Amino acid sequence: MNAVAVNPRKREVVLIDHPAPEISAGTEVKFRTLEVGICGTDREICRFDYGDPPIGDDHLVLGHEGLGEVTEVGSDVHRIKPGDLVVPMVRRPCHHSHCVPCRKDRSDFCMTGDFVERGIKQYHGFMTEYVVDHEQYLCVVPPALRDVAILMEPLTVAEKALIQIWQIQKRLDWECPVVEGKAPGHCRQAVVLGAGPIGILGAMALKVAGFQTTVYSRSKVPNLKSELVESFGVRYISSESTSPEELARMLGNIDVVYEGVGGAKVSFDVLKVLGLNGIFVFTGIPGFPLPHITVDGELIMRNMVLKNQVALGTVNAGRDAFEAAIHDLGIFMQRWPGTVRSLITGRFGLKDARGLLLGAATGIKNVLDVA
Ligand SMILES: NC(=O)c1ccc[n+]([C@@H]2O[C@H](COP(=O)([O-])OP(=O)(O)OC[C@H]3O[C@@H](n4cnc5c(N)ncnc54)[C@H](OP(=O)(O)O)[C@@H]3O)[C@@H](O)[C@H]2O)c1
Ligand SMILES: [Zn+2]
Ligand SMILES: [Zn+2]
Repeated sequence: MNAVAVNPRKREVVLIDHPAPEISAGTEVKFRTLEVGICGTDREICRFDYGDPPIGDDHLVLGHEGLGEVTEVGSDVHRIKPGDLVVPMVRRPCHHSHCVPCRKDRSDFCMTGDFVERGIKQYHGFMTEYVVDHEQYLCVVPPALRDVAILMEPLTVAEKALIQIWQIQKRLDWECPVVEGKAPGHCRQAVVLGAGPIGILGAMALKVAGFQTTVYSRSKVPNLKSELVESFGVRYISSESTSPEELARMLGNIDVVYEGVGGAKVSFDVLKVLGLNGIFVFTGIPGFPLPHITVDGELIMRNMVLKNQVALGTVNAGRDAFEAAIHDLGIFMQRWPGTVRSLITGRFGLKDARGLLLGAATGIKNVLDVA
């Protein structure tokens, strides 16, 4: 089988011949890979910033944003059948009996760091023709979402954030008054930092949850991303032309910030203008080398206390976020089908993978068409 892999020891990104996997346990499912999304994580692995092959292997097959069609199921598989479309989860639990989150199927909150991740950490990924995985890590996707289902995995980042936002705000009476036709966040202001796939999908999820949503990102208007954001009814404001203080004056109390930039300077500048009882969710992961920056720590601490604020980081996603992503992607497609499809800016063959992974980043979400 063809596969795209890294060999960190030799610092190579290569197309390899990889053995075809076979079902060896009753709970396993075999699927034919249809598509694999490429993101900054893959590009960082290809710069050898991180990314580990399975123990005893020289190569790590890349790809953690997958979509497949089931070809075969083990004798104990009941929820999934051949022909189903599936999106695999990424992380698998550590083996420590004392790791409560992993033992409770919440490896996204693993306490030991010894989890493995498909296509990232000690477990081969999806940039290959066939994959075998356990039923419990596969999410069945309705056939109507076939052409956009590859967006599900990056959408789970926002869904996990939203689940936590609602949980945290149970601390006060925060839901908006019930208004027919309006979702629960309709009286709340949300700001999304960044207009990459993480930011745009986050803005869509916040919009569907009812929030008055604004994307605050770098590039001046008009640009491809600002037009795309405005096409689904979300305002785009450029950080090049509007300061965080001006942004806060325009919007009033900023209830939620969903950060999808991956840079601390703009993030902490916006944290300074987070509103009363506000929540700031960091999802961005600054890349190496990590520069030193100066932040207004005293002001931020003062605000956080006097304004009852919460800042949290969130990584990876559990099954609840995957289920929410399937649900929301269906809503996105009912409301904005053209926009959702336009997030996928290119489809390429496995043989083009090296160029995409090693060349300059282009478009919004580029996808390998493996089928
Ligand atoms: N937590 C998780 O589980 C998880 C999962 C996946 C990804 N991530 C992280 O999420 C972040 C976003 O991912 P992505 O794929 O959407 O990235 P991306 O495509 O690089 O998009 C980043 C966006 O941020 C904007 N931006 C960059 N620097 C800025 C600045 N100083 N001020 C204002 N805007 C700025 C960029 O503006 P331009 O449009 O002008 O370039 C771009 O729109 C990354 O750090 C990634 O590592 C986290
Ligand atoms: Zn990714
Ligand atoms: Zn664990």
